[in-house]
Amino acid sequence: MKGMDIISIRDFSRQQLEFILEKSREMEENLSRNHNLLSGYVLATLFFEPSTRTRLSFESAMNQLGGKVISVAEPKATSTQKGETLVDTVRTVEQYSNVIVIRHPKEGSARLAAEAVSIPVINAGDGANQHPTQTLLDLYTMKKACGKIDGLKIAMVGDLKYGRTIHSLATALSHYKVELVFVSPEELRVPDEIKQHLKKTKTPFREIINIEDTGKVDILYVTRIQAERFPDPAEYEKVKGTYRIHPEMLELFGNVKIMHPLPRVDEISPELDSFPNAIYFAQARNGIPVRMAILALVLGVIQ
Ligand code: CP
Repeated sequence: MKGMDIISIRDFSRQQLEFILEKSREMEENLSRNHNLLSGYVLATLFFEPSTRTRLSFESAMNQLGGKVISVAEPKATSTQKGETLVDTVRTVEQYSNVIVIRHPKEGSARLAAEAVSIPVINAGDGANQHPTQTLLDLYTMKKACGKIDGLKIAMVGDLKYGRTIHSLATALSHYKVELVFVSPEELRVPDEIKQHLKKTKTPFREIINIEDTGKVDILYVTRIQAERFPDPAEYEKVKGTYRIHPEMLELFGNVKIMHPLPRVDEISPELDSFPNAIYFAQARNGIPVRMAILALVLGVIQ
């Protein structure tokens, strides 16, 4: 994977996904032994949208592997404010770093950046399109929590229209023998393009509105309804707060693990945090070994 860009989960075969998950497992096992693995390398994180987990876990991963980090966390502090293009920005950042992690509100921006530079570019979220490294840590979390991915019943809840984590995850899961349940308001159904792909790959799925109709599942993957993606704020007002998962609902789903890419607003009650079913903070922690593996692989330091 030396020199490879990580732009869309559609670019990965099952074999490649499994390879990265295995390298992530090895990273987690050897956390205390890899202090100098990326010594001499510089990671540039360019975030044109807010982030807590993705930016900080990439930066922590790089620091823990002995590399250095330069960072844009506030786009207003860059020369894009003076009219510089994204292409000129990344071509400049390429002079200062060995790998770029980029988050940008425009779909396709990570691909554009990757085509402009010769160092690896990792998509940390491009608008409502894709968030491939989130998917890798989601798969890693499922495998760790359930011991497998094949055979799982997975419900995805919330903003399935604009949720880039949903788009990436549903696409990746089409490589596995899973059953999917999509739970969303009518207005936030999963895009047709994803459904077409699932049909093509013979991945069984159903769509429902009432969460009470979900049935027993292994994973409930909850997402935030994202106010910032709605073109019309009135449309957001109609659907906000549709789903609120609380402890009394757990019996609906059986022996379920609850995941969430975070941040959450009100869709999971904090009362659930202390239940063993709640694995969303462990999921966030899994971002470290997975992103360590991704950085080391695209820099060609492990194979
Ligand atoms: N899951 C995720 O992408 O979180 P951040 O927006 O905080 O990076």
